[in-house]
Amino acid sequence: MLHAILVPSRVAKGHLATLPVEDAMRVPGVVRVLTPDDFPPPPEPVRFPNADAPPTLHREIAFRGQPVALVVAETLEAAMEGAEHVVPTYEEQTFAATKRSALAVREEARPTVFGDAEAALARANATVDVEYESPTQHHNPIELISTTAVWAEGRLTIYEGTQFASGLKEVVARILRIDPGIVDVKSPTVGGAFGQKGWVQQQTAIVARAAMLTGRPVKLVTPRGQIFHLAKFRPNSTHRIRLGADADGRMIAAHYVSDQQQSRGGTFPSNYHAGPSRLYGIENYYGGAVDYRIDTQPPGHMRAPHEHPACFAFECAVDELAYRIGADPVEFRIANDTRVDPQNGRALSSRYLNECLSRGAQRFGWERRTPEPGSMRASDGSLVGWGVASGTYPALVTATVASLRISADGTTRFATTHHEFGQGIKTAIAAVLLDGLEIDPTRLDIVLGDTTAAPQQITAGSWGTFSVVPTAALAVERMRAALSELLGGRQVSGNIHQQLAAIRRPYLTVDVSQLGPGQEAAALERLRRGQYAIAGPTFPEFTSMSYIAHFIEVRVEPTTRRIRMPRVVSVADCGRVVSPRTAASQVRGGVIWAFGASLREATEVDPRYGGFLNNDLADYVVPVNADIGEIEVDFINEPDLLANSVGVKGLGEVAMVGASAAIANAIFHATGKRLRELPIRIEHLL
Ligand code: MOS
Repeated sequence: MLHAILVPSRVAKGHLATLPVEDAMRVPGVVRVLTPDDFPPPPEPVRFPNADAPPTLHREIAFRGQPVALVVAETLEAAMEGAEHVVPTYEEQTFAATKRSALAVREEARPTVFGDAEAALARANATVDVEYESPTQHHNPIELISTTAVWAEGRLTIYEGTQFASGLKEVVARILRIDPGIVDVKSPTVGGAFGQKGWVQQQTAIVARAAMLTGRPVKLVTPRGQIFHLAKFRPNSTHRIRLGADADGRMIAAHYVSDQQQSRGGTFPSNYHAGPSRLYGIENYYGGAVDYRIDTQPPGHMRAPHEHPACFAFECAVDELAYRIGADPVEFRIANDTRVDPQNGRALSSRYLNECLSRGAQRFGWERRTPEPGSMRASDGSLVGWGVASGTYPALVTATVASLRISADGTTRFATTHHEFGQGIKTAIAAVLLDGLEIDPTRLDIVLGDTTAAPQQITAGSWGTFSVVPTAALAVERMRAALSELLGGRQVSGNIHQQLAAIRRPYLTVDVSQLGPGQEAAALERLRRGQYAIAGPTFPEFTSMSYIAHFIEVRVEPTTRRIRMPRVVSVADCGRVVSPRTAASQVRGGVIWAFGASLREATEVDPRYGGFLNNDLADYVVPVNADIGEIEVDFINEPDLLANSVGVKGLGEVAMVGASAAIANAIFHATGKRLRELPIRIEHLL
């Protein structure tokens, strides 16, 4: 195997003047240096998903850190040394580093409008008009982005931690102009994911090309500092929210306009306003969205990509409005419930947000709260703040296929669409299979993320369990029918393996496929081609959303102003809970990420050279175990049988949504300060 290292561009915009590789080739162990000349011309007029140009090597530089060459060597050390010796020259151009730069281009998206927000605001009894800000943030899983490509016997095999193995297969084939039929992608377990690994990485086709050109396996583990400049990240966004309530404490209007940083050709949507429009029964809504196109790599999905910043802003604004009219923040939210999707009047498949709020309030002990800011103290003199916020996330589903084989030798294999990244999708599948089939649980093999086993859809947006669990349930049903047909009334004892052995049948296989409610059959074809095959949250008969309520206690030390979060209660409505332990773990993970997003994480832009300054874990600060207090998780656990046969809805992303607002609202309650920009730090409380 050969090792590779990318050479990043030192300039933010321009083009390569010279790219000498001779010095690098003289480093002992260096085998080859790939340059833009090693790639076939881009297939026209193909647009690559959320990439300004096909993710390969180019002479045109669109952002600082863009790779200009790949050094391939016998050892990692030789590759690193070789990369140091590639020193290109550039013809530089002026660039925009931030939304406020002179060269930033403002672009408005089509708004979401229902009712008449301006008119309703004009007749409201109480209003707020506030602006909130969420910073640029980067994914920092421990597992770095890595690709290993093998070119052998006319086949290209790519091993990469990805959330979308079939999409990666198709896109890499298109970039390299080879038949996707000769490409296999294997991603059995993904470290990280959460959106960072939902795209073809900038490096994937480059490493694959290196394997094809050298005829040897090539491995690239991209260093963290480069990942900050190459991977998808959460863009900086600003949210201006105007809310109006009538004399009865009903919210009658919301006017919500957000903007975000965007790359020149990026397609990461700007519709932050979509989630909050379905959180309460607000009948007059204006949701506007703006992109500022600048010279960075394209932003992308990072856990609860729109809903986290949106609900941070929106749920803080709701808290401000509750205080303005003197309402209890929990009661105020409960009074603004809805039974329908306010966007279109359609029924909601299920909604237990009020149950989340009241059960959470009870478990948290909310009735002991005194509403006056600064009115609660801990025994050590710390200011105590209790905050609440709600969250919602669309329930989405994908076309899914599965193949279940039970063998007389005691093994079972279930190969299906979707990927495991620690969210526990295998555990959820196993729970369904073992619930319905008498098989040996110790020899059950669940195969995911492998294009040779099943077509792979992007696993993201909390649709993994929603999609795959009903498919597993269908496979169980078909297997039971096939088995009873096979036995034809004979009484055979033992588990299914023993029954098959008794009738001398080596194995029994069933193949199933499943679509979301109302999803057209063409989605299965898209699934097979590595294209998006996703439906929801509006289905023909209903809209489907997941919900959560967070109750958070913060303590602010009176002298140092250090902010701590000793106690959280989160109650979620995600339909039926199939796997309680992994579900609770998802919620704790979401709350911890919200803690990071609210109190720690921000990527600093370098306005002089473009790119990011604090591109390591010493300067990009994430939570550690010592930061995290008690997180109590509960579920309403009411099956949503309109959504699917098992009654599950998505959970992963909604877990994080609103938790940042609960933290900021708690800090207000502790200190009387409304802090409207994340992350909130000690210096903001001095
Ligand atoms: Mo998630 S941000 O859709 O992987």
